[in-house]
Amino acid sequence: MNENIIFFFSGTGNSFDITLRISKQIGNTDIFNIASDKILPSLDKYKRIGLIFPVYGFTMPNIVSKFISNIPNNNSYYFCIVTLGAFALGAMYRTFEAFGKIGIKLNYITNIYMPENYILFSKVPSDKIIKAHLKNSINRIKEISTDIISNNEKITQKNIFYIMGKHFASSESKKWALISSNFIINNDCIKCKTCIKTCPVENIKPVNENIVFGQNCECCLACIHVCPKQAINYGSKTIGKKRYINPNINIADMKTY
Ligand SMILES: Cc1cc2nc3c(=O)[nH]c(=O)nc-3n(C[C@H](O)[C@H](O)[C@H](O)COP(=O)(O)O)c2cc1C
Repeated sequence: MNENIIFFFSGTGNSFDITLRISKQIGNTDIFNIASDKILPSLDKYKRIGLIFPVYGFTMPNIVSKFISNIPNNNSYYFCIVTLGAFALGAMYRTFEAFGKIGIKLNYITNIYMPENYILFSKVPSDKIIKAHLKNSINRIKEISTDIISNNEKITQKNIFYIMGKHFASSESKKWALISSNFIINNDCIKCKTCIKTCPVENIKPVNENIVFGQNCECCLACIHVCPKQAINYGSKTIGKKRYINPNINIADMKTY
């Protein structure tokens, strides 16, 4: 019987990669994709309950906020790892607060810098920087796993960065994440359906010969990054920009958890 469970959400595989490597290091760990429609296991038997996800707009993805608000309080050791490309600006404290709201004391929270995937505003780093991030993550994973196995406490503070990110991380400004009609598919599309198979929340459907985006987008950008023909863009914001999928993982495997 496994004594740990890690819940993860991931678009382009960074958080999934970290989930797999942390699970391997700490051992005895079940893994659960929070975007799956599988029934949540009973958490009673787990000594440690972890959550690994990307920072979106200086806070949690919507799906993660919802998940946290329903997570049962088990008196277990709760830990979180957020992956991010550049600036957290209070994302960790916001996560700590989200757990606090439902009466759970988060025992440990930390972050791991990974390659940036937010190409609506920023861009994917060079191959050299991607390699450097992935290399640095090896030591971070060792440190974090040691902490988790020892049930160490690590809590973030409400600081100036939290205040700086407050405006952008408000629920109002998160609405941009749901503008599905801005996804444009160009004539390079070969109808391979990779986007449909990859979307973690099943928001892309084949309708007659077309590919249609629904209203349930989490804005993980996996569809844009995974398309082998770079045929999916978000308005004009992503045109000509480099794409990224974490090279350590097979993106299709995320759906098996
Ligand atoms: C919608 C969106 C918003 C993002 N916002 C931030 C952010 O506020 N700060 C940051 O450092 N990275 C941000 N990123 C980058 C991701 O957090 C980072 O690349 C993460 O490792 C991606 O994880 P994944 O591959 O598991 O999806 C954002 C990415 C997306 C798609």
